[in-house]
Amino acid sequence: MSLQNTNPTTTIAWQALEKHFHEIENVTMQQMFQDDKLRTQNFHIKWDKFLLDYSKNRINQKTINLLLDLANEIGLKEGVNSYFSGDIINQTENRAVLHTALRANKNDSVLVDGENVIPEIFEVKNKIKSFSEDIISGNKKGFTGKSFTDIVNIGIGGSDLGPAMVVEGLQFYKNHLNTHFVSNVDGDHVSEIIQKLIPETTLFVIVSKTFTTQETLTNSETIRNWFLKFAKQEDVAKHFVAVSTNIKNVTEFGIDKNNIFPMWDWVGGRFSLWSAVGLTISLAVGFDNFDKLLSGANKMDTHFKIESFDKNIPVILALLSIWYNNFFGAESEAIIPYTQYLQKLAPYLQQGIMESNGKSIGRDGKTVNYQTGTIVWGEPGTNSQHAFFQLIHQGTKLIPTDFIGFSKSLYGNKDHHDKLMSNFFAQTEALLHGKNSNQVATEFKEQDISSETAKFLLPYKVFEGNKPTNTFLIDSLTPETLGSLIAMYEHKIFVQGLIWNIFSYDQWGVELGKQLANSILREINTQEVKNHDSSTEFLLNHFIKNNH
Ligand code: F6P
Repeated sequence: MSLQNTNPTTTIAWQALEKHFHEIENVTMQQMFQDDKLRTQNFHIKWDKFLLDYSKNRINQKTINLLLDLANEIGLKEGVNSYFSGDIINQTENRAVLHTALRANKNDSVLVDGENVIPEIFEVKNKIKSFSEDIISGNKKGFTGKSFTDIVNIGIGGSDLGPAMVVEGLQFYKNHLNTHFVSNVDGDHVSEIIQKLIPETTLFVIVSKTFTTQETLTNSETIRNWFLKFAKQEDVAKHFVAVSTNIKNVTEFGIDKNNIFPMWDWVGGRFSLWSAVGLTISLAVGFDNFDKLLSGANKMDTHFKIESFDKNIPVILALLSIWYNNFFGAESEAIIPYTQYLQKLAPYLQQGIMESNGKSIGRDGKTVNYQTGTIVWGEPGTNSQHAFFQLIHQGTKLIPTDFIGFSKSLYGNKDHHDKLMSNFFAQTEALLHGKNSNQVATEFKEQDISSETAKFLLPYKVFEGNKPTNTFLIDSLTPETLGSLIAMYEHKIFVQGLIWNIFSYDQWGVELGKQLANSILREINTQEVKNHDSSTEFLLNHFIKNNH
């Protein structure tokens, strides 16, 4: 079954939300908290090791009810069934969207073209397990008989961001293997990494779903050529493995058939870390931890599938985001994890969210007449407090922000963790309440400031507050909770794409630049620049003159 095709602005719920927005837009959250003592009790969800408090949002019960009406009118229940059961919901690529099957249980059954894909998934999982164990234990050795010490993941986009984010995120659980990530076609990137490597003890994991991606193939060739300065052709089989759907191209590259980890076209690149794309994760933290990551995601899948929408974390997050994006006109959202381990979470989610929902043609084939994909950005707290929080507190833009914190730190340094988390709580409180002119004036009095200076400074020191935040308080950062967290955002993406009536699982928007880059490369090589606008022609000629 395909997804319902409804312009959301034509629904009864959307029109009711527009009316409701005018009732509520000037009511402050400060007022809402004063008027409703049960607010936090009503607007939080406790699930597994997660607590989500969404009471610091510009909503009341009516807002939530209307947003839930919107989800129902759009056919969310049926949509979720189609998503999990392997229907062709990626219609523009004629594919199912089944990253959820990668973390399903062994006894589950998920059909693609009438065939249960779970046994195949477990076959690959077993291959990941035994390969990782052999590398970690030193059972498998390099061409001089030494154990491996370094792993290099070569890939880009979904074939890089997921593994890189998780390996960094789970650093606490990491073994002795050093991990490196080469992604950019920028030759300086690969050169910097090669310098750190010893060929006889380095394993290269080439990850490319299509095995046609310019960046990954170029980096792989450069690395193989470098490797062959120290080793023989037959040693490549011991040091290079690949993860891909394109067995033909991988074999042509010279990789041994046994060293290919397959994946499937029903796994989108940006949702693929759960597949063999996560091989580097399994190598870095061991298969058991990789499996726990998968089971955390599976738990979130079950929550999303069976929980009623009013207590369903991904559904509530998606609806709140639509509320700000489509009614308040918010342009972006921030994601602030209060752990340095998750410093790559925002770039990772940028691909997931913006490549999926950055679309302007609806499922009816027409240009949408409303806003779709949100811009997401972020950095860990407290660093971000000293960077861009000024704008969130006192700028002119409304930036709904997710705060992600953990009750326990991993090394158990209580002093640091209490300081970190004091900042976490202080920020959401400050964003809610702000500081009014009376409070500022009282502070001035206590500070013995001249009345002239106080008058001048007062407007600059006022914080309006009323800035929306979601607070996630999670027990601790483990493979399991990280798996749940990532899956939570994946399902948020699905719900938003469904409601915005777009196709979330293709990415045609990245093709044009790739095509043009190929023809420009030919012109740079032949030094014959033609058929461009005057600006591009001028720039290319300048580059060729200085580059050759
Ligand atoms: O940027 C476009 C894209 O297709 C992403 O969706 C994907 O993750 C990335 O390129 C890498 O693709 P591949 O794994 O096929 O090399």
